[in-house]
Amino acid sequence: MPVAVVVGTQWGDEGKAKVIDLLAESHSHVVRYQGGHNAGHTVVVGDQRYALQLIPSGVLYDHVTPVIGNGVVVDLPTLFKEIDSLESRGISCSKLLVSSLSQLIFPWHQHLDALHESKLGDAKIGTTLKGIGPAYADKALRVGLRAGMVRDIAQFAELVRQRGTDAHAMIVALGGEPFDVEAIVVQFTELGKRLQPYVADTVNALHAAIESGSNVLLEGAQATFLDLDHGTYPFVTSSNPTAGGACAGTGIGPRSITRVVGIAKAYTTRVGSGPFPTELIGELGDKIVDIGHEFGTVTGRRRRPGWLDLVMLRHAVRINSLTEIALTKLDVLDTFEEVRICVGYSLNGKQLDGYPDDSNVLGEVMAQYVDLPGWKQELCNHRSYDQLPARAKALIELVEKHVGVPVSIIGVGPERDACVVRS
Ligand code: GDP
Ligand code: IMO
Ligand code: MG
Repeated sequence: MPVAVVVGTQWGDEGKAKVIDLLAESHSHVVRYQGGHNAGHTVVVGDQRYALQLIPSGVLYDHVTPVIGNGVVVDLPTLFKEIDSLESRGISCSKLLVSSLSQLIFPWHQHLDALHESKLGDAKIGTTLKGIGPAYADKALRVGLRAGMVRDIAQFAELVRQRGTDAHAMIVALGGEPFDVEAIVVQFTELGKRLQPYVADTVNALHAAIESGSNVLLEGAQATFLDLDHGTYPFVTSSNPTAGGACAGTGIGPRSITRVVGIAKAYTTRVGSGPFPTELIGELGDKIVDIGHEFGTVTGRRRRPGWLDLVMLRHAVRINSLTEIALTKLDVLDTFEEVRICVGYSLNGKQLDGYPDDSNVLGEVMAQYVDLPGWKQELCNHRSYDQLPARAKALIELVEKHVGVPVSIIGVGPERDACVVRS
C-alpha cells in the first residue's frame, strides 16, 4: 500500500489527526496537501495533548518525515511558533520539508479576510480569519509568493515590498485600516531566512520515497463539505480537501493511491455559517457539545452539533472514492437513550434522490431518520469489535449497509490507543 489518503467526510474536526497519528506508525512520510493554519488537529498521547495547525500529524513519530505539500498555504509566524512549541516539548521538527511550490500567507491576506467578512454582514461565511481565501485568490491570480522564492532572499524582500504595497492600496481603497508595509518586509525577510533550510522539492522527494518502497500518507485538512467545489458553497474553505485535492496538492498521481480513509464522527458538527440538515438545537445538541468538547481548536468557537447524516456520507464515499471509513467519537454517544441517524432527505413532502447540488436546497430539506436504541455503557475500554455492545454494532452496520464501504476503525476516546481496529 504505497500511498494512502485521509480525508474528512463532514465539515471538519472529525478526528482526522488522531487517525493519521494511528496510521503514521506504518508510514515514512506524512504530507499535508491543502489548507493552512485554519486547521486545528489534535493528537493525544498519554497525558500530552498536541494541537497542530500546519505541521502534519505524523510529526510525533521519529521515523516520520513530515511534509508540507505544494497545495498548502503557509503562514510563517504560525509555522515557526509551532516548530518552537513542539521542539520545546522534545518533538524534533528537523526533518520537516516545506514544498518550494507552496504559497505564503501575509498579514494583508488576514486584513482582507476580515474586510470581506465584515462587508458580508449577516451573510458572512464565518471564516477562521487566517487569510486562507485571499491567499488562495492570489495563487489563482498568479501573484502569490511561493516558499521557494526565499532561496534568493534579496529578491524575496523586494517581492514582499511590491505585493505589500499593492495590497495596502487595495485595502485602503476598500475602507480598511492602513498598515506598515516596511515592517512586514523586515519581519518576512527574517522569517524567509529561517525557512530556507526547510524548503525542498517535495514532489521529487515523495516520488523517490514511493519508488524506494516507502509508504506515504496524505493528510487532508478541513473536509468534503468544506471543499471549494463540492462543499456547501459559498460556506466552504478555499481549497480542495477532497481526495482529488491530494493529487494536485502533492504531485502524486491518482494511480499511486491505493487506500482512501474517510473520517466521520458518529454525529456531525460544523463551525461557521451554512446549511446543516441534521442540526440539533437545544438540550441534546448541548449534550453532544459538552461530552464531545466541541469547541474549535483554532478559534475557540462552539461547534454546531447534529446527528450523523448518511446522505452526506454516501456522497463523500463517491466524491473521494473512499475505500473505508473511520467512525470516530462513538463513545460520546454512550449515555444517549436513543441515537438518530439520517438516511434520507425530503423536500416539500417529496423524497430526494440523494445529496442536492444546491446549498439553498440543502438548507430546506427535511432529514429522515432511523432511531436506534442507545447502548448505555462506556465504550472507552473496548479494543475489539466483538466486545462492542450489539447496539453499537447495529449503528456501525447501518452505516456500512447505507454507504457501501466498511468501517475499519472505530474511535472510542481521544487517546492514541482508544480505538477498535478491525482486521
Ligand atoms: P481534526 O481537525 O479532524 O483532526 O479533529 P480535531 O482535532 O479538531 O477534533 C477532534 C477532537 O476529538 C479532538 O479533541 C480529539 O482529541 C478528539 N477525538 C478524536 N477521536 C476521538 C474519539 O474517538 N473519541 C473521543 N471522545 N474524542 C476523540
Ligand atoms: P480541520 O482541519 C472545521 C471552516 C470555517 C468556515 C469555513 C471557511 O481542523 O477540520 P476559512 O478560514 O477556511 O476560509 O473558513 O471553513 N473551517 C473549518 N471548520 N474544521 C476546520 O479544519 C476548518 N477550517 C476551516 O469555520 O466555516
Ligand atoms: Mg480540527
